[in-house]
Amino acid sequence: MTQKITAAITAVGGFVPEEKLTNADLEKIVDTNDEWIRTRTGIEERRILKGEKGTSDLITPAVQQILKKRGIAPEEIDALVIGTVTPDMMFPSTANLVCHKAGLKNAWGFDLLAACSGFLYALTTGASLIESGRYKKVIVAGGDKMSSIVDYSDRTTCIIFGDGAAAVLLEANTEGYGVLDSILKSDGSGCQHLHMKAGGSLRPASAETVANKEHFIYQEGQPVFKAAVKGMADVSAELLERNKLTGDDIAWLVPHQANKRIIDATADRMGLTHDKVMLNIMRYGNTTAGTIPLCLWDWESKLKKGDNIVLAAFGGGFTWGATLLKWGY
Ligand code: UT7
Repeated sequence: MTQKITAAITAVGGFVPEEKLTNADLEKIVDTNDEWIRTRTGIEERRILKGEKGTSDLITPAVQQILKKRGIAPEEIDALVIGTVTPDMMFPSTANLVCHKAGLKNAWGFDLLAACSGFLYALTTGASLIESGRYKKVIVAGGDKMSSIVDYSDRTTCIIFGDGAAAVLLEANTEGYGVLDSILKSDGSGCQHLHMKAGGSLRPASAETVANKEHFIYQEGQPVFKAAVKGMADVSAELLERNKLTGDDIAWLVPHQANKRIIDATADRMGLTHDKVMLNIMRYGNTTAGTIPLCLWDWESKLKKGDNIVLAAFGGGFTWGATLLKWGY
């Protein structure tokens, strides 16, 4: 009998720019204050990618770190899947550019757009490539240069977002490690509450769209908050139930870092104590597709072989989901 192939994570790489944007810095730009930002979101500072650089400049170092850690040549990578809403350009894809920059000469790749759930969508996609048996080494990345689409005169959105990226290497495994299950959801009716109006085929860039600030994130915080609390908690609970697990069986929850209050609600619903929840929102803010792999990057040294880990996200689209992993090293 042939053994089932799973996609195990065998290395993690990450990158955040040096430049910090603190709550004190934001107090000088918009009418806000450190106390409000901390208590309403949990964020203290974010990283900002300065200069004429794009998301590929965040993801390329993360990919290079993976190759170095795992001791493999760039030519060994078969495919690269990137979750992002801030590609360097509309085309070619950021994956295409990263393959070039990191020397992944034998890889094909593509970008996948699912906003804050981008990494989960990309991970499930990348895992399927491995599970099919056709590919041996696939890199899945999530990253965003959110500062490129943030309106720094809008105090309700500019305080949340930051820049950063991270990536994981997936390799075929026959011992039951890696991506075990995933529930992914979408609801396009949520578009009205969180989107970027212009720059696509519907409203191409024009002097009018620029003047109307339509190339920035538009977010209605409250409806998104409510949908996120319900969506992330429901899907995480469903994932546990479907796999006959309880909070006690879970070593770590890796939640999308959008708002500490959303994260706390999800952990409570799963019956998890807060010491099992990865939280780095205070240092990086919301890096959209970057948050979940950046947590794995920060916590890598604490993870143990066999740990059950739940990744959970909610974001623009609406898109949301949860993935169950068994850590492989
Ligand atoms: O990752 C993608 C998905 N996105 C999310 O999950 C984000 C979900 N939403 C949120 O995290 C929260 O809704 C926000 C952090 C965006 C906003 O927090 P909130 O608790 O929902 O605040 P609010 O929009 O209801 O505003 C409450 C008050 C308002 O003042 P009044 O009308 O009560 O006088 C706002 O004008 O807070 C005011 N406010 C601020 N005050 C100081 C809004 N932004 C700020 C600010 N500083 N930056």
